[in-house]
Amino acid sequence: MRHEAIGRCLTAAVLAVAPLSLMAQGQGVGPARPFSFAAIGDAPYEPVVGGRQQYPVPAYEALIAKINSDADVAFSVHIGDIKAGNTLCENVVYSQNLAYFNSFAKPLIFTPGDNEWTDCHRANNGNMDPLDRLQLIRDTFYPHNKSLGQTTIPLFKDKQPYVENSVWTEKPAMFIALHMPGSNNNRDRRTGTWVDATDAEYTARNASNMAFLDDQLKKATLDPQIKLVVIAAQANPFDRFLESGQGYTVSGYGDFIAKIRAWVEANPSKRMLYIHGDTHTARFEPKLTPVYPSATQLTPAGTPYPNFARLEVYAQTAAFANWFKVSVNPDGTYAVTVVPAP
Ligand SMILES: [Fe+2]
Repeated sequence: MRHEAIGRCLTAAVLAVAPLSLMAQGQGVGPARPFSFAAIGDAPYEPVVGGRQQYPVPAYEALIAKINSDADVAFSVHIGDIKAGNTLCENVVYSQNLAYFNSFAKPLIFTPGDNEWTDCHRANNGNMDPLDRLQLIRDTFYPHNKSLGQTTIPLFKDKQPYVENSVWTEKPAMFIALHMPGSNNNRDRRTGTWVDATDAEYTARNASNMAFLDDQLKKATLDPQIKLVVIAAQANPFDRFLESGQGYTVSGYGDFIAKIRAWVEANPSKRMLYIHGDTHTARFEPKLTPVYPSATQLTPAGTPYPNFARLEVYAQTAAFANWFKVSVNPDGTYAVTVVPAP
């Protein structure tokens, strides 16, 4: 399948420059400068004993140490899934991951994944109320308007209660951490004790997310110094636009895809990079097209927009093999590098 072929390509040290031919420059010279950041997520998953996450996680600590020792890295983004999908959502998971995030020497920005709240209703997760776990996430990881880590950066935050949505700018890039998890974005969840029969949580958060995204994308359009928009969220809205085998009848990602498609189409001289996880297949590729994904087109079709790419992070398997470093140039081009973990 296509993804496997792409996965093999990732062994190259440097993947590619963003798939957009270099645009004419000259405007908005300003203070833009080259910088790099680390993209990680879907970790730590192991070790697990008796259905419970175990701490410490030596391989994760080694990965963090490796990132901390890389002078190029200005900050790190963790796209969610701080536990495995089949372990208890007990409080220690959240407190231990907070400690890990705060062991990053540089700023760390985290956006929640489905494993730490949406899926906590599962019997092997402890049959817990997802909304209770979501509140714990907000209280634990988002107590202030700044990043986590030993050094922090200020973040522009979404309104309450969506404190996990944040924006920061490192010219020429604007970064948006958007709370959009897998498991269909918590839409159409029809199993478990804590069924959200009216989709109340999804509906309210999605409406707020779309308004937040609207505001930021308008700013990115109008500011000539912004040449790259990076959106980080856990969900894979491409391969799982409508996840099979889960009973979902309507996608939780339709509004998001429509919004980014409109922006990418309307801003051919700017780039968008969408960083995600969830499907545990490290890959960097053009993906979005005028027709894919959509409710009527669930498999790739059409010609990908040259100014859009998706980057799926390395998940923890038996050990951390690699991590991605994204290096941004002042003109908005960027390179994605595979860095071996220790
Ligand atoms: Fe995951």
